[in-house]
Amino acid sequence: MKAKNDVRPVAIITGAARNTGYATAERFAGEGYNVCITSRSGEDARKAASEIAASYPGAIVKGYEMPTTDIEKIRDVFRQLKSYFGRLDVLVANATATGYAQNILNTDPEDFDFVMSSNTRGYFFCCQEAAKIMVEQKKGSIVLVGSVHSLRPLPNRIVYAASKSAIDSFNRSIAVELGKYGIRCNCVIPGAIWNHRWIGLTENEIAAKRDNWPVGRESQPEDVANAIYFLASDQASTITGTNLVVDSGVSANLLKYDKNWDKE
Ligand SMILES: NC(=O)c1ccc[n+]([C@@H]2O[C@H](COP(=O)([O-])OP(=O)(O)OC[C@H]3O[C@@H](n4cnc5c(N)ncnc54)[C@H](OP(=O)(O)O)[C@@H]3O)[C@@H](O)[C@H]2O)c1
Repeated sequence: MKAKNDVRPVAIITGAARNTGYATAERFAGEGYNVCITSRSGEDARKAASEIAASYPGAIVKGYEMPTTDIEKIRDVFRQLKSYFGRLDVLVANATATGYAQNILNTDPEDFDFVMSSNTRGYFFCCQEAAKIMVEQKKGSIVLVGSVHSLRPLPNRIVYAASKSAIDSFNRSIAVELGKYGIRCNCVIPGAIWNHRWIGLTENEIAAKRDNWPVGRESQPEDVANAIYFLASDQASTITGTNLVVDSGVSANLLKYDKNWDKE
């Protein structure tokens, strides 16, 4: 079956059943796109899709089960998307395994492979499938969501940081390889973003985190969605292969941030 509304541009956002991916899906729906949401859970993807469709009448919002470790599943989702919408204007690669508590001393090969295959390999093959459609169209925009850990690592996130560093490199290669087909690729590099994992934190724990950031607060998912949308949109039509850091100033600062730097 074909989409009833095939005039709207189409965006796919991976890992969009919650948090930043969800806010990004809402942003694209609000900007007049039809939107595809992916999650490891088909049920969660469809639930998020129906919520967003209810809030943005006119947008077709579809949810797909797509664990990024499963390349056949990735291929199948892009095949379904192409056959339903007949086009793909934007890919936002966002779905990420966080890889907590992994360091150089304790990481075993299975945990290493899981994070790299969820993130680096998952992003790569989503980009490959998107590129096949976009090359035919001679038009498209890809936004990769990286992490400030690839610029300034913290201990115990070594594989996650490396997985995001590779994504930073893909960004420039994809931009160079696909520019001649009218396809741009850029990377948003977030620092701390509010997400569901903050819900259990005490006020003191949140205040201690905020003390580290020159801007004095974390990004909300919508702050990151704004940067993603800008890079995807025609407002950024000559921007490709670049990084947009959205980190409340944390990576600009050397050592621990002193918010009283101007006091005696
Ligand atoms: N939050 C931060 O402070 C922060 C800081 C720097 C960078 N970032 C990056 O910014 C993006 C958005 O952050 P966020 O906090 O909104 O992300 P998140 O919700 O932690 O992760 C995004 C989505 O990825 C999916 N996911 C989780 N584990 C996965 C796995 N093993 N394989 C495939 N998919 C998996 C989840 O969707 P399902 O469970 O529905 O599959 C999840 O909703 C991510 O790319 C993240 O790496 C975040």
